[in-house]
Amino acid sequence: MKCRIGVIGAGSISEFHLDAYKAHPDVEIAAICDVNEGRARERAEKYGASRVYTDYRELLAQPDIDGVSVCTWNNTHAEISIAALEAGKHVLVEKPLCKTMEEALRVQEAVRRSGKVLQVGVVRRYGANTELLKRFIDHGEFGEIYYAKASWLRRLGNPGGWFADIERSGGGPLIDLGVHLIDICWYLMGKPKVKSVSGNTYRKLGNRANVKHLEYYKAADYDPSFNTVEDLANALIRFENGASLMVDVSFTLHGEQQGVQVSLYGERGGIVLEPELKIITEKYDTILELAPQMDHPAFDFNQGFASEIAWFVAAMAGEKETLSPVGDGVELMKMLTGIYESARQGKEIRF
Ligand SMILES: NC(=O)c1ccc[n+]([C@@H]2O[C@H](COP(=O)([O-])OP(=O)(O)OC[C@H]3O[C@@H](n4cnc5c(N)ncnc54)[C@H](O)[C@@H]3O)[C@@H](O)[C@H]2O)c1
Repeated sequence: MKCRIGVIGAGSISEFHLDAYKAHPDVEIAAICDVNEGRARERAEKYGASRVYTDYRELLAQPDIDGVSVCTWNNTHAEISIAALEAGKHVLVEKPLCKTMEEALRVQEAVRRSGKVLQVGVVRRYGANTELLKRFIDHGEFGEIYYAKASWLRRLGNPGGWFADIERSGGGPLIDLGVHLIDICWYLMGKPKVKSVSGNTYRKLGNRANVKHLEYYKAADYDPSFNTVEDLANALIRFENGASLMVDVSFTLHGEQQGVQVSLYGERGGIVLEPELKIITEKYDTILELAPQMDHPAFDFNQGFASEIAWFVAAMAGEKETLSPVGDGVELMKMLTGIYESARQGKEIRF
């Protein structure tokens, strides 16, 4: 029997969830909910969902719905996820898990009480390049990974709307882009325990909506008039096993346009994960760069979401454990909120 899915929040990212659900042979897209009714209707028509809601509580009251994707603003993730779990639904919640540590712990408790699956939408874990690399790491190819460095510097790319409103987003590029980078490095390093974080945030350039001739990702309700989030954040994270991670992210910066860059360094070899998977090693006194031959050496959104959703559906059916459980979402929130706190206080935060 097919499982029935509801999607809550019908904005930009919901399309990736819906495309993946639509292509999945064991899924029926049953319902769509958005506070913007027209947007919910449009998606429902496109993806063949028969029920449309503007109040997520009505969707959650439908007894035949097995699971939901939560694709709303960050400030609603905890509330909707907890309500969904309490209504007996499995949950795939977009990143970040929520806005605060207090919320994160409440979501974790709701998962424990309900016994339902909650998968955090850290989609890069599900990328084909990460999956392949993880096998190499698990076989000890790189030895101990003791350093990682990740960067996502957008020259121009404040998505505006709720992303730029700290009340609804919880922050700027750190919570939006940094969450992906910190997660993928921490996951591939073997999820070491966090010892301390030290960070800086800057709000110097505004959203630069005046700039012409360049396109960038925008929230469904783009609004350039409001901006209360940082433009740039950087951080150094120390782990109890001695490993460290350096990260910097921006929505805008007077610099060259850069894509995502992720590198990890081990005792026996190194890794460039992004922009494209490459392995660096040494043999016969020679440094080698190896390029795994595969369809998606770079992170591919469609492949990543298809894999994330297939994993969620399998976890709902009890066939496997989710790859990104709530506990990982809580640890990520600890690092993210710790970095913001460190920037606020101007000193390192120790856990
Ligand atoms: N995994 C990724 O790579 C990725 C990429 C982009 C966004 N996201 C995440 O996805 C989420 C949504 O981002 P987006 O870019 O789609 O934003 P968006 O603004 O395009 O869409 C959000 C939608 O949620 C709706 N909404 C807000 N509160 C609601 C509520 N209480 N009930 C029902 N609908 C509600 C809005 O009306 C809007 O249509 C965010 O948490 C964001 O961090 C993830």
